[in-house]
Amino acid sequence: MKRTNSQNIWLKRQKKDVFVKLSKAKGYRSRAAFKLIEINKKFKIINQNSKVVDLGASPGGWTQVVAELQNKKNQIIAIDKKQMEPIESCKFIYDDISNFLKYNETLERNYFDVILSDMAANSSGHRFTDQANAEKIYYLAQNFALKYLTKNGSFVCKFFRNSLEKTILQNIKQRFSLVKIYKPNSSRKDSKEIYLIAIGFNNLHKD
Ligand SMILES: C[S@@+](CC[C@H](N)C(=O)[O-])C[C@H]1O[C@@H](n2cnc3c(N)ncnc32)[C@H](O)[C@@H]1O
Repeated sequence: MKRTNSQNIWLKRQKKDVFVKLSKAKGYRSRAAFKLIEINKKFKIINQNSKVVDLGASPGGWTQVVAELQNKKNQIIAIDKKQMEPIESCKFIYDDISNFLKYNETLERNYFDVILSDMAANSSGHRFTDQANAEKIYYLAQNFALKYLTKNGSFVCKFFRNSLEKTILQNIKQRFSLVKIYKPNSSRKDSKEIYLIAIGFNNLHKD
């Protein structure tokens, strides 16, 4: 099958990328694993006993990192609309988060210490559509966090720099005691992706 130009560029970049090489060497399923390693080194969000939900978990790099940080006592909940190979001590839920929020009541509310979201939509090639999809995904993750985080819990979420950034930050600052924006070194410099780090959920506004 003939590759498109952008597929060729992507392949070339993958071959040169140090984090792709490192993830293979260390047995991580994705280079994204290093972003969570960096985030946790800096903000110390996940510890041995944290109860964690990983949204948009597939293929499982972040879940692998969480599993390594823990003592296997806790079950990590990983959710994705794409299937994922099993990981020890992880319960995988195959679902779209928008469906999950509407119909699934199997998880206990206000129970989890950490909600992670590395969810992203595939690019459509249209700037405005991509931006609208990215915003929709961000708010799905935020709604999930507000419903399932316990008091003082933390929310780590990928989002893309855009016009809504200010509004997102203003809103989230009312719910958490510390809010930071962080771009890990392993996040590609040419990507608009950044991570919202929100610590100390106040759980004041019950929806
Ligand atoms: C960048 S990948 C996540 C990589 C993962 N953190 C890792 O370390 O391997 C983004 C994931 O978000 C998932 N995703 C996007 N929108 C979603 C939605 N509405 N519900 C569930 N998963 C979603 C995609 O299926 C995809 O697997």
